[in-house]
Amino acid sequence: MRQHPIILVTGARGQLGRCFEDLSRQFPQWAFLLTGAQELDITDRRAIRRFFENHRPNWCLNCAAYTAVDRAEDEPQQAQRVNALGPRYLAEVCAQIGSRLIHFSTDYVYHGRHYLPLRENVPTHPRSVYARSKLSGDRAVLRYCPAGGMVIRTSWLYSPYGHNFAHTIARLGRQRPELRVVFDQIGTPTYAPHLAEAVLHIVDRVQTHGQPNSISGVWHYSNEGVCSWYDFAQTIADLKQLPCRITPIRTEEYPTAAARPPFSVLDKAKIKTAFGLEIPHWRRGAEQWAMQTA
Ligand SMILES: NC(=O)c1ccc[n+]([C@@H]2O[C@H](COP(=O)([O-])OP(=O)(O)OC[C@H]3O[C@@H](n4cnc5c(N)ncnc54)[C@H](OP(=O)(O)O)[C@@H]3O)[C@@H](O)[C@H]2O)c1
Repeated sequence: MRQHPIILVTGARGQLGRCFEDLSRQFPQWAFLLTGAQELDITDRRAIRRFFENHRPNWCLNCAAYTAVDRAEDEPQQAQRVNALGPRYLAEVCAQIGSRLIHFSTDYVYHGRHYLPLRENVPTHPRSVYARSKLSGDRAVLRYCPAGGMVIRTSWLYSPYGHNFAHTIARLGRQRPELRVVFDQIGTPTYAPHLAEAVLHIVDRVQTHGQPNSISGVWHYSNEGVCSWYDFAQTIADLKQLPCRITPIRTEEYPTAAARPPFSVLDKAKIKTAFGLEIPHWRRGAEQWAMQTA
């Protein structure tokens, strides 16, 4: 493999994609191809093939996804197209061209009765259209790109960009005297810049040390620590000095179209050990988010 890789980022206008764009400036010797849905639609098999044949990327970081979790209940075909078919097309072409594929997935594929951090081998139980479509995408990547396909499942992603929970709390907390937030769904927020940094660290390591098959399979990445959505909201309120009260409520008091897992804390031991990663605590991410959105 060339020393200086060509890295394709799909879905580059989304939260995670934009974090890769930010970080790309720290790797001036690497060639980043940042493509949004307009430049490269991952559900267009021919366009993908053409793009790969023209540019021959060494890596594809697939940040493209249908992420409207509740809307997906009414748009199952669209969710399936973007979250399952798109990754399949990317996996097929990556296997053919010899590119490595890093695909991002979600803690929502786990919906069992767990109370200990989830390892990668725990059985999946998707309980929403979104979660099922993401699991189909994960399986397609593992099946069609078995040697070079890495599926990273992450949780509660937020960033300075796009739509996310932290932005919603900051906005509503300035408009309303009280925000009611569930305290019986437990997980870990993931600051997207930290995930993007970890991924480029992995790319760098593989480029430098050449570990041909070591990235394949399912991996977990979130920030360290554990909290409820209520705790996360309270932290955002504190950091942003919001003039509102945050009240803990149960999930049944805040019905949503799509079910959310009650416990989805991810165990990151595998990725930390394999790639020598040090993962920041989620509060560190929240502090950075607050500074970057000041
Ligand atoms: N957000 C979370 O809480 C969370 C949690 C766990 C895992 N994840 C996973 O993490 C990954 C990144 O999430 P994110 O929050 O960065 O998502 P995001 O902000 O919604 O970005 C997704 C991007 O994909 C683009 N896209 C949609 N359809 C496409 C297509 N057919 N071809 C090319 N691009 C397309 C979207 O463009 P348009 O906006 O123009 O449609 C959008 O820019 C996803 O795989 C997601 O499932 C997210």
